[in-house]
Amino acid sequence: MNIDGKPWRTIWLEPDGHAGLDAIGVIDQTLLPHQFTTRTLRSCDEAAEAIRSMVVRGAPLIGVTGAYGLMLALQADPSDAALAVAFEQLNATRPTAINLRWALERVRARVQPLPPEQRAEAAKAEAAAIAEEDVAMGEAIGGHGLQLFQELAAARPPERRGEPLNVLTHCNAGWLATVDWGTALAPIYKAHRAGLKVHVWVDETRPRNQGASLTAWELGREGVPHTVIVDNAGGHLMQHGEVDAVIVGSDRTTRSGDVCNKIGTYLKALAARDNGVPFYVALPGSTIDWAISDGLAEIPIEARSAEEVTYIQGQLVGAASAGAIARVRLTPEASDAFNPAFDVTPARLVTALITERGVTPASEEGLSRLYGVAADPASAAAVPG
Ligand code: MRU
Repeated sequence: MNIDGKPWRTIWLEPDGHAGLDAIGVIDQTLLPHQFTTRTLRSCDEAAEAIRSMVVRGAPLIGVTGAYGLMLALQADPSDAALAVAFEQLNATRPTAINLRWALERVRARVQPLPPEQRAEAAKAEAAAIAEEDVAMGEAIGGHGLQLFQELAAARPPERRGEPLNVLTHCNAGWLATVDWGTALAPIYKAHRAGLKVHVWVDETRPRNQGASLTAWELGREGVPHTVIVDNAGGHLMQHGEVDAVIVGSDRTTRSGDVCNKIGTYLKALAARDNGVPFYVALPGSTIDWAISDGLAEIPIEARSAEEVTYIQGQLVGAASAGAIARVRLTPEASDAFNPAFDVTPARLVTALITERGVTPASEEGLSRLYGVAADPASAAAVPG
């Protein structure tokens, strides 16, 4: 993606590294949209902390950061014991998105059979491959989603054909959540670049406001018309014919097509179903957990700090402190808060899954056909690479 004319990815190898070892560059997403700042990660500890504190976030991006984190760990100590400790440390940072474990397992499988002195280089190659594949998957998802959007636009009554396609999205599943392109936003970028008029309703996405802060920011950089709405506005807009489609990402997709995404996604799916609005979920294959079938029972839901609910972060306005980023308290000091970060939308509420391999019904049969995995729990180990 471009920022002020310069192409950026969300994660990169710093050309000069540090102290003869590699270092990883990332965009600090905790400061957007007010400050565009990059950070350098020099150790596995720093990579783990960047994931935990959401300097980097979004299922695919935390996977790639985890992979590079293992590389940093192995550059410091390539032993079996260090590999095991780093794997557990990184894997424990965020529990819901399966991409993290998937990427860590890929790197571990590549390096474990090697002699220690070859491990760091192999981890670097594997992490880079995961990053490149992520970009390719996002772009492919964009292409498949663009076709769907073109069909939706063409199916509108003649009097509405000149209007933009109104698409609602929740959280941030754009290029900031991946290495580039994004998942749910990739079709929007493809549509915008292809000249299909699109307007995006951006759910603010309390409590961390990934929609208001990140999605709005990246859509703005790309020149895509958009409007930020409070999380509770979507149902009202759907009732009044203001939403042509909902599209969201996924942090974990079961083999049966249940999807787990940012808290509040389920309510959007319910409203979409009640109003006959198509509800699409865009995801790369790295988000599918072939080992589970029942999203509600089997996906661990991350509970984040209550302070994300009781405080809000923003930029101060007014002469004295203009520009400074500050946290302010929202709730009475004595009130408890609870902060589940994700929810599960059952497959029955999903119109279709948009993957890098094409569009499919949200079902075990559909996913199995697309990925060449037998629709049988016993074969769950046969996960495509
Ligand atoms: O808590 P976050 O910001 O990491 O949550 C991100 C999301 O919920 C995204 O929608 C999801 O990771 C899919 S991104 C391609």
